[in-house]
Amino acid sequence: MNRKLIFAANWKMNKGPSETEDFVKSFLSKIQGQSVNSEMVIAPPFVSLAKLVEALGTNSQVQIAAQNCSQYDAGAYTGEVSVLMLREFFVHYVIIGHSERRSIYGETDEVINAKIKKAREANLKPIFCIGETLEERESGNLEKVLRTQVTEGLKGVSEKDMLETVVAYEPVWAIGTGVTATSEQAQDTHAFVRSVLKDLYGEDVSSKIRIQYGGSVKPGNAAELMACPDIDGALIGGAALDPQSFLEVIQNGSAS
Ligand code: 13P
Repeated sequence: MNRKLIFAANWKMNKGPSETEDFVKSFLSKIQGQSVNSEMVIAPPFVSLAKLVEALGTNSQVQIAAQNCSQYDAGAYTGEVSVLMLREFFVHYVIIGHSERRSIYGETDEVINAKIKKAREANLKPIFCIGETLEERESGNLEKVLRTQVTEGLKGVSEKDMLETVVAYEPVWAIGTGVTATSEQAQDTHAFVRSVLKDLYGEDVSSKIRIQYGGSVKPGNAAELMACPDIDGALIGGAALDPQSFLEVIQNGSAS
C-alpha cells in the first residue's frame, strides 16, 4: 500500500505572527525548486494562522493545521474556536486529542470523539492523536489503552470520514523528552493500531489510513522511523521550530 508520508509541525504554544513570518520566509526559500514528495503541514497557534496564510501566499506545497477546535458550533464558550472559524483561515487539518490536551486540559475520549465529528462536518481533516504513558506501557496495558482510545475516539465516525483522518501515535513518554521509541517499538505499536483500525473499518480502509509517529522525532532518527512499513509520517514538536531542522526531518524521512 502506497501511503503518502505526512510531516506536520506542531508548534504548540510557540511562535506568534512575526516569528511565523520569519519561519515561513526561511522555509520557503529552502524548499524552493525542490520536489518534496511528502505532504508538509504547519500547525501554528491560532493567533498566527492569518500570518501563516499570508506568508505562504500562493505556495500550495505547505498545508495549514490548527492545534485544536471546539466540539461546539458557536455560543458562550469563552476561549474556544469553532471549526467554521478555522475554515475561514483555509485550514486543512486540525490536531485533535493531543496528549497535552488530554492530560493538562482533561479532554476525554468522548470530547475528542465529538471534536473529530465536528471537524468532519466542516470538511477539516482530523489528526487524531493517541498514545500511552510510560506507566501504562510498563504495566502491560499498552494495547488496552490504545484500543480504548481508538475505539472510543472514533465511535460513529464513518468509513468515508476515516479516510480523511490521520492517526498520530505519540507515546507520552517520548514527547519533548529526547527519548524516542525505538523503531521496533514504534513499528510494533503502529501495526497494532492498524489492526484495531482493521477491526473497526476492515482491511481496505485500514490499509489506506496514515499513521504518523510523534515523540522526539529529529533529523537524526527520521529515516529509521519512516523506513518502518506502518509509519506514514511524523508529528514533530521541538525539531519543527527551526526551518532547517524541520526540512531535514522531511528530507531524511522521505528518502527512506
Ligand atoms: P516533540 O517532537 O517535541 O517530542 O513533540 C512531539 C509532539 O508532541 C508533537 O505533537
